[in-house]
Amino acid sequence: MSSVPGTGARPSARTPPHPAGLFITFEGGDGVGKTTQAALLEEWLTDAGRTVVRTREPGGTEVGVLIRDIVLHHRGEVSARAEALLYAADRAHHVATLVRPALARGDVVIQDRYLDSSVAYQGAGRVLGTQEVRDLSLWATEGLLPDLTVLLDLDPATARARLDADDKPFDRLEAEKEHFHARVREEFLALADAEPERFLVLDASRPAVDLAAAVRERVELLLHAA
Ligand code: TYD
Repeated sequence: MSSVPGTGARPSARTPPHPAGLFITFEGGDGVGKTTQAALLEEWLTDAGRTVVRTREPGGTEVGVLIRDIVLHHRGEVSARAEALLYAADRAHHVATLVRPALARGDVVIQDRYLDSSVAYQGAGRVLGTQEVRDLSLWATEGLLPDLTVLLDLDPATARARLDADDKPFDRLEAEKEHFHARVREEFLALADAEPERFLVLDASRPAVDLAAAVRERVELLLHAA
């Protein structure tokens, strides 16, 4: 790699940060209520006159829908590393074709799951290594990190009871055992501890309206700071 003239420093591998938009992600285990909170935030921001792009991973693009089908519904084995790469491939395409263009237009992107899910599920859950999996996603996205990540924290047993009540068949990840989901939760909390300025951690057992109010309060601060 060449160096920046006169400094000896290596040029940054990262593309410039998004100039005008706001990138907000929702994270947490399965069954914690991310989709509900994302929808409530979208409604509030739209009413306030903002242009919102609501999306998700895996499956936020046409290519992503195909990847989602493999990674969540393939009946045979998918090796752990292949799984991590599939999520990263979905993310690379999603960020390049949908998320970055929206942020460049100045839109608010509200996204159900992002790279923290890979770190928690593949890095910790599948024990592939949290740093390696984070680095893979940072490469895939050219270093794009959210402005805000809302972590909806819930103990896996309560989340599982909510999913059971939904009566939908479990996907490959949801079907994992309790200790897998315990590792995922622990990693999400560790990620939030490591980056308190990016994360808002909320107790997902609280009523949805209270959670939505807490999210709005934090987003308002970001909008005013922008
Ligand atoms: P999600 O779309 O939230 O599930 P649902 O449609 O059932 O609400 O996520 C699908 C699953 O993919 C979920 O179990 C978590 C998992 N996942 C990973 O393991 N790694 C990742 O990087 C992402 C984005 C999701």
